[in-house]
Parts: sequence; C-alpha cells; structure tokens
Amino acid sequence: MAGDWIRTVTAQTPTNIAVIKYWGKRDENLILPVNDSISVTLDPAHLCTTTTVAVSPGFDQDRMWLNGKEISLSGGRYQNCLREIRARAAEVEDKERGIKIAKDDWQKLHVHIASYNNFPTAAGLASSAAGFACLVFALAKLMNAKEDHSQLSAIARQGSGSACRSLYGGFVKWIMGKEENGSDSLAVQLVDEKHWDDLVIIIAVVSSRQKETSSTTGMRDTVETSLLLQHRAKEVVPKRVVKMEDAIQKHDFASFAQLTCADSNQFHAVCLDTCPPIFYMNDTSHRIISCVEKWNRSEETPQVAYTFDAGPNAVLIARNRKTAALLLQRLLYFFPPSSDTDMSSYVLGDKSILKDAGIQGINDVEALPPPPEIKDNVPPPRNRGEVSYFICTRPGRGPVLLSDESLALLDPSTGLPK
Ligand code: DP6
Repeated sequence: MAGDWIRTVTAQTPTNIAVIKYWGKRDENLILPVNDSISVTLDPAHLCTTTTVAVSPGFDQDRMWLNGKEISLSGGRYQNCLREIRARAAEVEDKERGIKIAKDDWQKLHVHIASYNNFPTAAGLASSAAGFACLVFALAKLMNAKEDHSQLSAIARQGSGSACRSLYGGFVKWIMGKEENGSDSLAVQLVDEKHWDDLVIIIAVVSSRQKETSSTTGMRDTVETSLLLQHRAKEVVPKRVVKMEDAIQKHDFASFAQLTCADSNQFHAVCLDTCPPIFYMNDTSHRIISCVEKWNRSEETPQVAYTFDAGPNAVLIARNRKTAALLLQRLLYFFPPSSDTDMSSYVLGDKSILKDAGIQGINDVEALPPPPEIKDNVPPPRNRGEVSYFICTRPGRGPVLLSDESLALLDPSTGLPK
C-alpha cells in the first residue's frame, strides 16, 4: 500500500416488490423477520440504484453522498453493513496500477460512497431496498469479498430487511431462518427473470400529502400490539409461501394473483390491527383496488394482481402485455392526468404499452370510454390528478457491475462526487 491512488467500483442494483410481505421483526438490531417473504425484482432500466464506492489511502474518513447530498454514515444500519463487509475483505492486487491492498489493510482504509436512484426518492418506492443492496454488493466487489449473493444478502438485510431480496433478479424468497445470530436469514432466488417474462408491472405513484409512518416504526408498533400479526406469521404466511412458490413455478397466474392480493390486504389489515392503527392506503388506493377487483370478477380468471407497501402507491402485475394495455386504458380512464401534465411525463418506463393501448396523446385519454364491466347508467367519475404518474416495467435482473467509467458517480482522480 503506497502512493495516493484511488480504486473505484460501480454497481447497479434493482428494487423489489413483495408479493408475500415482510412485516414484523423478531430481532430489531439484526433485522430478523417473523415470517418468510417473497418478492419480484423490478427491471433496473426503470427503477434502480447506482452506487460507486472508492478506496484510497488519502481518504481520512468514511463518507457517503445520496443523490448528490452528503449524508451521515453514523447510523447503526450503515455501521453494521460496513463492519460486516470489512470483516470479509480479501487481498486486492492491481498490477497494472501498482496497487496492492493486503487483507488487514481494509480495517484502516476509508471508503467514499456515492449513490443515486433513477426514480424520485420522494415517490416512496422502496429506495432503501435497492440502496442497501447496492452498497453491500459494490463494497463486496471493491474489497474482493468471496461471499456469494445469498451470503451478501444476509449483510444487506442488516441495512434494511427488504434489501436482502434485491441481491437477485426474478422471484426471490427471504428465508426467515432460525438462528439467533441471523446467519440463516437470507435471500435465495426461486426463478430468474426469464422464467415468467410475460408479466408486466404498472406502478401507480399516488399523490399524497400525508406523512407516512416509516416501515421500521410501523412494524415495531405492530409487533408490540397486534394479535393478528401473530396469527398471520404462524398460521397464514407459511402455507401461503408454499402455494406462492408453486404458482410461480407453474406460471399459474390465477393462483399468483389471488395470493398476492390476499397477502397485501392482510398486511394492511395487520396495520389497522396495530395500536394506534396505521393507514398506508388512501382513497385513491382503494379506488384502484376496486377497479381491478371489478375487472377480475367480470373475466373468467384474474387479469391483474395488486399489491401495496407502506404507502398509497399501487403495484399492479398484469398477466401479459395484452392485459397490461387493457389495464392502462382502465387506469387512464379512472385517473387521467391533471390538465397541465403531458402524456410523456405521465406514463414513464416502458412507454410501448401506451402504444399497445392505442393512446398517443391526451386527446385519446379524454376520449376513453368507461370500461365495459362498469354497467352503471351514469359513467363513473374520472379522478383527475389523483395519480402523479405511472411507471410501466417488468420483472428484472439482479445486481451488476458497471465497467463504463462514464457511469461512475465519483471522480476517479479526487474520489469526490462528479
Ligand atoms: C411493506 O425493509 O423498509 O415493504 O427492515 O425496517 O428497513 P426495515 O423495513 P423495510 O420494510 C419493508 C416492508 C414492506 C414489505 C416488504 O417489502 O416485504
């Protein structure tokens, strides 16, 4: 270890949405859950975190920038992740640049971390999941840790529970584990993103002025006060997880949708069963559920599944592209943009679904007829402005390293944000 070199690594990690929810910890510090959970990883092209980590003998402390702003690393969750990764660091040698870092050097060396979400943090879309997964993955590569993705997931878990599921693409299960030290509480991949690539995911980012209870505080209150949670964790989730794995393996959309909706609804019921009660969904969320329920009921078999996390945003999973186009028509009928919004900023992500839905511009939205399953004599109201925007996406891949220097967030000559 000599000279003032800087070594950087940049990684990109997806976010994930649970179809069987994690809610409740049995150990707050280690972040050990009271039940298994299952998620689908979202395409990083539309929702991901990019993180650059750098090490240099010239750095005098660990520092981090999130979306360009310096933040403190003193919190227990960051400290736990940094400590666990450092403990697994191995020798690194870059002969070309004359850099050699011995295993023990990592305890003395400091790191700089810059992280950026390609979606608005304010939208309340599980940014901590992608963020901690990316932090742990990037540091593991920088420090040449030999751990596999499952072992890394057990470290990311200590940053934020749901982060452990972002170490894989496709469908992922977080096994709650039995050990007191948490060593067996980790994520495994059920199937990769190609297994069920018909699925299309539409996220409705719902306008909300309400300050939401954080997941951490909310689940702590639930564990302390809800009897329904105990029933859920012991009796309901274990059976549901088995059925969900089977539905995923067999591409059984009807069963998948039924389980996903039921589990989201039970999670919100558990929130209501908490003292004081927690309300994450709002009237718009309820209207979206009702739109999907009516449509699913009018068809022979479910077309769309819905799931809501700790906020009012809806994540809608359509069985295929054709259904997704029909879903988007319905969503745009019930939730047209406010008059000053243009379509290109109202439907984000994979915009080709808009084309499939036959919608070119705002005039096509205004001209949409009420969905055929609505048999009322008076057309149902259109709730203008209740949704901020939609994101069209699909199941996606797990973390990757980005070798293109231009994508790095830290300047390779200063180690500071570009
Ligand atoms: C409703 O992972 O954000 O999204 O472990 O305290 O950081 P902490 O909580 P977090 O909780 C996520 C809860 C959820 C359900 C889920 O993702 O499974």
